[in-house]
Amino acid sequence: MALLEIKNFSFNYPQSPQPALKEINARVGKGDFIGITGPTGAGKSTLTCCLNGIIPHFQAGKYQGTINLQGASIFDRSTAQLSRLVGSVFQDPEAQIISAEVEQELAFGPENLGFPPAEIKKRIGDALELVGIPELRDRPTVSLSGGEKQRVAIAAALAMLPEILVLDEPTSELDPAGTDEIFRVLNLLNKKQGITVIIVEQKTEQLAAYADRLLVLNEGRIVIDAEPWQVFSRRRELEEIGVKIPQVTRLAGMLGGNDSYTLPLTVEQGYIFIERILRR
Ligand SMILES: Nc1ncnc2c1ncn2[C@@H]1O[C@H](COP(=O)(O)OP(=O)(O)OP(=O)(O)O)[C@@H](O)[C@H]1O
Ligand SMILES: [Mg+2]
Repeated sequence: MALLEIKNFSFNYPQSPQPALKEINARVGKGDFIGITGPTGAGKSTLTCCLNGIIPHFQAGKYQGTINLQGASIFDRSTAQLSRLVGSVFQDPEAQIISAEVEQELAFGPENLGFPPAEIKKRIGDALELVGIPELRDRPTVSLSGGEKQRVAIAAALAMLPEILVLDEPTSELDPAGTDEIFRVLNLLNKKQGITVIIVEQKTEQLAAYADRLLVLNEGRIVIDAEPWQVFSRRRELEEIGVKIPQVTRLAGMLGGNDSYTLPLTVEQGYIFIERILRR
């Protein structure tokens, strides 16, 4: 049984003439690291809102089809039940952070679930440590930079010890080093703790390096569902819909790497690829 199964799912915002999601089909297994990418307005955020209960609990609309999590419909679960299973990081950290201090922000979810104070303290410490911001514990949230807010939002989601982490462009305010660090943390959580990761991201370099599978969305539909090397070998298609191809993959394509199997996705792979060409 898939951990998450989306079947023929469509969603319409109220008063919107066009559905934002059209006939979505996808399966996510326990321990998967799934990337979602696509141009602006493709429906990426809408899809994440269908996984964490924002839709239908806080955002109305009309839907068809099913989304099952651990075999039961997401739409039949309460927000409290969902919050134990699905940790969310939203696209806009400003809108996510509600507490005056970082420690309170991380305590909010576990307190609502009624965990004892000692357990909550431990979870907060562990989550801050994992994301690499233990020094921010006592900071007022208004004093945080955009990137720090994004890390606090990720730590707050982790403090719930969820089965699945759903992140909507969690590195948009981070520089390249900060972005890499977040992906390394997510990779660690995924590989060491078996947390399933679903991440919306425009930075395809990182998706190529870390995701097991990529879903490419365009105009509300999943147009590609494949492993990164398969996705990025479909250069024309991606250019047409406006999805960036990792630079190293594009360069290798220009240098005559026609066999998609050997196209490099990371700088390390690119190094080997170019070395092989120079030896010829
Ligand atoms: N609350 C809403 N009411 C009506 N339409 C909405 C609402 N939120 C989003 N939409 C529309 O639904 C479509 C999908 O939007 P969504 O935010 O899911 O796209 P996205 O892929 O996340 O885009 P971006 O990359 O810009 O974040 C867009 O056409 C958008 O205008
Ligand atoms: Mg979005």
